Amino acid sequence: MKNILVIYYSQTGQSQKMVEEFVQAQTNVNIHKLRIDVEPKYMFPWKIKQFFRLFPLCVRGVTPKIKVPWEQVQGIEFDKVVIAYQVWFLSPSLPAQALLKTPELQVIVRGKTVLGLVSARNMWVSAVDRFNQQLKKMGSQKVINFVLCDQSPTWATFVTTPRWLLTGKREPFWIFPKAGIADEDYLLVRKLKLTESLNDTALESEALKWSHKQLPVAYVAEKIGINYFKLMAAFIQTVAPKENLFKDFLLLLFRLGLVLLIVLMLPISAIIVMLMAKKVALTVDRRVNDLIKV
Ligand SMILES: Cc1cc2nc3c(=O)[nH]c(=O)nc-3n(C[C@H](O)[C@H](O)[C@H](O)COP(=O)(O)O)c2cc1C
Repeated sequence: MKNILVIYYSQTGQSQKMVEEFVQAQTNVNIHKLRIDVEPKYMFPWKIKQFFRLFPLCVRGVTPKIKVPWEQVQGIEFDKVVIAYQVWFLSPSLPAQALLKTPELQVIVRGKTVLGLVSARNMWVSAVDRFNQQLKKMGSQKVINFVLCDQSPTWATFVTTPRWLLTGKREPFWIFPKAGIADEDYLLVRKLKLTESLNDTALESEALKWSHKQLPVAYVAEKIGINYFKLMAAFIQTVAPKENLFKDFLLLLFRLGLVLLIVLMLPISAIIVMLMAKKVALTVDRRVNDLIKV
């Protein structure tokens, strides 16, 4: 039987659930599962200051120390690699970025197909693009992605996701739905059943069919957002590379700018999508499909 390496980080459990569903769906292959730990661990729920301190690090790729129990898979030759990761600040999460820097993974992915199991609120395009590019640079032969998002309206997730992350409260309240990926959506991961011969074409077509895509409004908003993120992260990290009061002050300004941007960005994105509906829908469709199979 073929050997599959499944490697993942999960803080709030969404990527872990994707991994569990994926593993349960497999009958024809040997699965070897490794969980990434970060040292020191990130606290949950997040304190707002700690949460935003990660922003410039995520965007600029300043990674933390991670622990991966590589010794458990020493000597095994893998036929395919599955990496389950999440989006933080429109970038791959810091543990996922740190994983790509490990010499062990660099050897394992060379010449292999990598399946990415990605979870996000609903803005994942820039992060997956960056992760795909890095995997390609490391010599991966092919990357296939499968994404699950919170399918509630974008305006609602801008409230429910931060509320969940900063207070731990996930349940519906007032006019807002429950935060996170819907329980029934995890079942979609089971569509990614590997064949005995590890046929990539079959896997690719299942991923294209069942992966969550991106709404045109979220796509346009992300395009605007990523430019603001890159600019601010470069500025903050250059003038204040170390954690101190000055950096926290700059991050406060970033937060104020972000609130303003969200308030302006959503209506602007909605207007752009309304005025150029067909063109935007086509562009998003093409772009998203390109990111799912690379
Ligand atoms: C620090 C941080 C930043 C995040 N930034 C984004 C983001 O930019 N876009 C997005 O769609 N989701 C974002 N999210 C939501 C996570 O991607 C999502 O909740 C993910 O499923 C968490 O994975 P986990 O449960 O395996 O830890 C962010 C979450 C955290 C903790």
